[in-house]
Amino acid sequence: MAAYAAGLFKKALLKKEGRFLAAVSGGKTPRRLFRELAAARLPWERAVFFMADERLVPLSSSESNFGAARGLFFSKIRIPRANLHPVRPGPGAAAAYARELLKETGGSGKLDLILLGLGEDGHTASLFPGSPALKEHKRLVAFSRAPASAGTRRRVTLTLKAINRASAVVLMAAGPSKKEVFERALRLDKKIPAGLLRPGGETHFLFSEKE
Ligand code: 6PG
Repeated sequence: MAAYAAGLFKKALLKKEGRFLAAVSGGKTPRRLFRELAAARLPWERAVFFMADERLVPLSSSESNFGAARGLFFSKIRIPRANLHPVRPGPGAAAAYARELLKETGGSGKLDLILLGLGEDGHTASLFPGSPALKEHKRLVAFSRAPASAGTRRRVTLTLKAINRASAVVLMAAGPSKKEVFERALRLDKKIPAGLLRPGGETHFLFSEKE
């Protein structure tokens, strides 16, 4: 699955003229993909990275999604520092991130590729079941509160609007414990956040039995 997702990523990056804007998720699932991409010889100087969601913790925290992506991926490729967009924790973090996203996308908020994970409860990014962020249809980035079981509670997340606006969405889920919820997402089951995704562009839902 990681190799397949890396192939999708490479294709999208090489197809795009100029800057390639992507957002990546946290969690365990993307780790193999990050290692594949870190080893790939690609025009990383053209890539710009956002986070699909982030915990409002210092970048140095083991809970930081950006910190994880930096350790496995960003630190291993030749990419200008200015092309990396971590979420800055603090008051108004969601609004500030939305402004940064709008600025980098020339006001469109349209990313070229968004990489998503899937939680066992059907959450994706930090859009959790019942979250008010699911009802955010205007803004591109929202504050979100994760359930206690999901680690750091205070989060910032791309909204469904931002995710659906992307040219390509790649959702990845791995392991037997995700099979049932993955199938629900695939069936666009509206009872789970991942089932509410309606990307306007290329959509790839990838599942691997192997963790
Ligand atoms: C986060 C992630 C989250 C993740 C899912 C799946 O901040 O926790 O962005 O949305 O993608 O929880 O996590 P795993 O890949 O670890 O199963």
